Amino acid sequence: MSAPTPADKFSFGLWTVGWQGRDPFGEATRPELDVVEAVHRLAELGAYGLSFHDDDLFGFAATEREKQIGRLQGALQETGLVIPMVTTNLFSHPVFKDGGFTSNDRGVRRFALKKVLRNIELAAELGAQTYVLWGGREGSEYDTAKDVRAALDRYREAMNLLTQFVTDRGYDLRFALEPKPNEPRGDILLPTVGHALAFITTLDRPDLVGLNPEVGHEQMAGLNFVHGIAQALWHDKLFHIDLNGQRSIKYDQDLVFGHGDLMNAFALVDLLETAGYDGPRHFDYKPSRTEDITGVWDSARANMATYLLLRDRAKAFRADPEVQEALAIAGVADLGKPTLGAGESYEDLINDDSFDPDKAGERGYGFVRLNQLALEHLAGAR
Ligand code: GCO
Ligand code: MN
Ligand code: MN
Repeated sequence: MSAPTPADKFSFGLWTVGWQGRDPFGEATRPELDVVEAVHRLAELGAYGLSFHDDDLFGFAATEREKQIGRLQGALQETGLVIPMVTTNLFSHPVFKDGGFTSNDRGVRRFALKKVLRNIELAAELGAQTYVLWGGREGSEYDTAKDVRAALDRYREAMNLLTQFVTDRGYDLRFALEPKPNEPRGDILLPTVGHALAFITTLDRPDLVGLNPEVGHEQMAGLNFVHGIAQALWHDKLFHIDLNGQRSIKYDQDLVFGHGDLMNAFALVDLLETAGYDGPRHFDYKPSRTEDITGVWDSARANMATYLLLRDRAKAFRADPEVQEALAIAGVADLGKPTLGAGESYEDLINDDSFDPDKAGERGYGFVRLNQLALEHLAGAR
């Protein structure tokens, strides 16, 4: 198996390897991780990028803003690591308890927008191309508490203002909305890839707004992540991706990539690698609370190793003549053919009696054999 290199475009959130293990039931289990150390370690492991929230780097009070930006820039210069994506923390401070862009409190909404605008300037200065917006606090626990239609008006107002800002400033920066169904709010607005895609069509500058889907977030809702990503690609809206692992419908686990639904992860890597996605392979995971700092770096390594392993396995799967035969029997490529012939009308279709439905009903598609071949490649048995 090959070792990760910057050409693989692996990136990590500063808040991932930097997570100290604080959860609703317990204290931190690890000491703080300094940004300079994080950059050096990630570069040594073969990553190419780092992403961060404003608060990850210099804290909400921002007393050390300039100093910390300088230290980050120094570490980037020393290692060659880049900043492909930046995001804003609109969820930790008590002021955001009812959301940022969609808080019922207008003062909070104005403050949230100012916080994002200020951080966009930093993102542009650092050369980031994507600005992620995860609206973890945009939502409610009680249906009586939130006018969802008004909230969507305010969400749209915020997005229109942000796209106007980057356009006026001439920044080469696009926004990526990150859907999540719940947690920390009882219900979060724009809960799935589909909801977010529909919302984007209503914006002033839909071309500047796409998606940052996260594996676990779709899977928390019982949805098929690969289907979500395929549809995002189909709409040309896969601007960024958060890779991690999730085991079924429960709280957001943020496990290492592949440590959840491995078959779905295999199909995902196959899709990303064959569909021409060329953005960062960004890991948004949490090194489990049980791990010490050695475990943190082992887990960072594991994300990349698993991706590369699945990439190799997916290639071998595609190259196997038995798989190609099974794909042909399954008719997978036949779906690419338009249902009507060139120049054929619905009248022609109505008058076409050549098809025998009873005979077609006898067809076996061989999908099970095909999937077993995928499993055997995945398990290294082929
Ligand atoms: C989650 C989210 C967050 C966001 C990140 C960017 O796990 O609920 O994915 O990790 O991606 O905070 O704002
Ligand atoms: Mn998550
Ligand atoms: Mn995420």
